[in-house]
Amino acid sequence: MKSAILIKGGRPLAGTVKVHGAKNSALPILAAALLAPGKSVIRNCPPLSDVNASLDILRHLGCTVEQDGDVIAVDASTLSRWDIPDGLMREMRSSVIFLGAVLGRTGQAELSFPGGCELGPRPIDLHLAAIRALGGVVREDGGRLRCAGGLTGREIIFTRPSVGATENAMLAAVAASGTTILCNAAREPEIVDLQNFLRTLGASVRGAGTSMVVIEGGKPLHGGEYTVMGDRIVAATYLAAAAAAGGEIAVSGVTPGHLATVCAVLAEAGCVLRQEGDVIHLASQGPLGGAKPVHTAPYPGFPTDAQPPLMAALARGTGITLFVEHIFDSRYRHVDELSRMGADIRVESRVAVVCGVPRLHGAAVEAADLRGGAALVVAALAAEGESRITGLKHLDRGYWNLEESLRGLGAEVVRRRLDS
Ligand code: EPZ
Repeated sequence: MKSAILIKGGRPLAGTVKVHGAKNSALPILAAALLAPGKSVIRNCPPLSDVNASLDILRHLGCTVEQDGDVIAVDASTLSRWDIPDGLMREMRSSVIFLGAVLGRTGQAELSFPGGCELGPRPIDLHLAAIRALGGVVREDGGRLRCAGGLTGREIIFTRPSVGATENAMLAAVAASGTTILCNAAREPEIVDLQNFLRTLGASVRGAGTSMVVIEGGKPLHGGEYTVMGDRIVAATYLAAAAAAGGEIAVSGVTPGHLATVCAVLAEAGCVLRQEGDVIHLASQGPLGGAKPVHTAPYPGFPTDAQPPLMAALARGTGITLFVEHIFDSRYRHVDELSRMGADIRVESRVAVVCGVPRLHGAAVEAADLRGGAALVVAALAAEGESRITGLKHLDRGYWNLEESLRGLGAEVVRRRLDS
């Protein structure tokens, strides 16, 4: 049954919101739990549809999984399979993250090529090159990947930083015999979180957060306990919402340093930000100005996932801002929908020019991907009148309790079932 989020915009936000655990940290950590023949407890793990898809995969593989709100217990001692069926792979394209852990634990893995997604082609050549470098034999057979082999540690040099490939290589390397050195590794905070979880299993991993990660593989592993970091992109979304709608909010539960590039753009556009411990305060009065060109980049650069919500915030204002999307080929699908609300944004390949307009108006719009959907919510909060947002299956992949959290900040937001 289709639903829609209805937002009556044009009112300032006020209050405090605590950010839930990071989707992009929880997913690799749930895969990593497979490596240890024991029970692991993972806290602050939001029950998002992508997380639930991962739990379905763990159960299919033979693990016992208990979920109580945002606490998940995985007992991987009963792991009995190494194949992930096509249907489960299609539920979530980042399921490829299970490859390294399943191969490392069982010596084989069978899964389908993850489909492309709304952001354009999502190649996994860097993942496969890393697995092959560790001695894995990977055969592609009509859309299915069949991998086998004992793994031996060695130096791996990534031709470009890739979050998923770095994580897959880390998980395979934990099970490989000997030392693995990952060069030109991605430096995202979620990779540091994965390292910290692996250490609770007894693995020897160091260097995450830098371009060189060193794993001493083959250690005996046991279940661990871990609390997932706060979601920096969800935090960026709430800050963008307050920037767009005006008002004053405090965002807690996330490491402020993880949002430095996002806060810098919001400050340049006229917001007043300050940090108190792990709380970020943002105040926004009146229309936003523009900012210097925003180039998305691997961490610690400006995060591609924050590009859509930040663009939505800058759409209402008096300035002009240039965005250049260097990470994904097709990450401007929210622009047409923002234009329905009165935004003036021109797109040419990877470049988008946002010309701030004095006001946005509510409209019926549809999300085409997760962060594009977040952009529509941000714009609807700033727009005069009512907006109706559909395509909620995208939003539900990455935002837990979104409507309740926004109502807690004074927004007029409800989710309604649509008559078919
Ligand atoms: C992770 O995706 C995140 N997903 C993405 O978040 C995020 O946008 C992305 O990192 C960049 O930060 C998860 O963590 C589950 P990459 P990932 O490998 O690992 C190319 C969201 O909204 N590439 O760092 O897939 C790739 O096409 C999602 O939460 C190859 O060419 O990203 C892209 O252009 C969206 N070959 C670039 O590298 C490969 O083998 C960076 O991708 C792998 C990637």
